[in-house]
Amino acid sequence: MPSLFDSITLGAIDAPNRILMAPLTRGRATRDAVPTPIMAEYYAQRASAGLIISEATGISREGLGWPFAPGLWTDAQTEAWKPVTDAVHAAGGRIVAQLWHMGRQVHSSVIGQQPVSSSATRTEGQAHTFEGKQDFETARALHIDELPRLLDDYALATRNAIAAGFDGVQIHAANGYLIDQFLRDGANHRDDAYGGSAENRIRLLREVAERVASVAGADRTGVRLSPNGESQGVDDSDPHAVFLPAVRALSDIGIAYLELREPGPDGTFGRTDVPKLSPQIREAFAGPLILNSDYTTVNEAQAVIDSGVADAVSFGRTFLANPDLPERLKDGAPLNPGNPRTWYSQGAEGYTDYPTIDETAVAA
Ligand SMILES: Cc1cc2nc3c(=O)[nH]c(=O)nc-3n(C[C@H](O)[C@H](O)[C@H](O)COP(=O)(O)O)c2cc1C
Repeated sequence: MPSLFDSITLGAIDAPNRILMAPLTRGRATRDAVPTPIMAEYYAQRASAGLIISEATGISREGLGWPFAPGLWTDAQTEAWKPVTDAVHAAGGRIVAQLWHMGRQVHSSVIGQQPVSSSATRTEGQAHTFEGKQDFETARALHIDELPRLLDDYALATRNAIAAGFDGVQIHAANGYLIDQFLRDGANHRDDAYGGSAENRIRLLREVAERVASVAGADRTGVRLSPNGESQGVDDSDPHAVFLPAVRALSDIGIAYLELREPGPDGTFGRTDVPKLSPQIREAFAGPLILNSDYTTVNEAQAVIDSGVADAVSFGRTFLANPDLPERLKDGAPLNPGNPRTWYSQGAEGYTDYPTIDETAVAA
């Protein structure tokens, strides 16, 4: 079995190791979702990842409700990503853009219109807004005639991502956002060609993946799914029935890789008691499979590669707090603890100031 430190080919991308950076929303863009210079510094610091998967990035105003998250639907946003991808490449790294439509997980005060979803449903709890947290609102069901426009939005964001210098894109189909709101029957109550049977519920994911692949190339298109358990109020009564055909469809398209966020019963973030689907997904998907959630040591990550289920592992909070994570794991060096208080705060604190091993040694 390969080592975590061996290279891997992810479609058109040659990753020098199997320690990938998971997508992490950090809220350091402008109010208009334009990337800022400090984001170039942050991502370049983490260029030793086999591959950086960017923070979730809005494909449209309709789809982006997270305050100060970046977008990829305007020329200004696209231009401002260029120094970020340049900085990562100059530091020897690779970065793909995670394409995001949040569906009903937004508030009208941020997007300027009623949220949209597969059906007229509402998430329990509160949305992040520029004015603090506010109650989620009932979404408007997207009309079937609007879906071609939605696919156009994905195509535009993909074109912009490639123009901005990204090495590819990842379709965010996980965590209870729009595509997941179509996939899972707890949120999708449609009675047209996009609802009901599993085949119908995976239709949007398949069409988005085909469209994005037609722009970026299938070998530069990745997908993230969260198949096991509830996520932000979105769940399915029979995950096998929808996720295995979904994965087969993605395999047929020939996407570059599939990433799964699948916390287990002991997950510290998004725990779920549902059995992991990854062993069956491994059988159904022909390309590289990346697993995520709660991997923090070489032994844990190597074990899932040795089991034959994963080809690589993506690290979220650990990469956030350890810019030189691959080197630290290789050397068995201690890990910096993260600070959740600064996950989404503005500015450099808890963003670009986590020390590397070398900086820690100098300070000592
Ligand atoms: C601060 C923060 C921001 C996150 N943002 C995103 C995101 O933009 N897109 C996404 O798919 N997942 C996001 N996640 C989930 C992570 O990618 C990852 O699945 C989760 O942190 C579990 O992995 P870990 O145990 O390695 O941290 C976020 C998690 C955290 C803690």
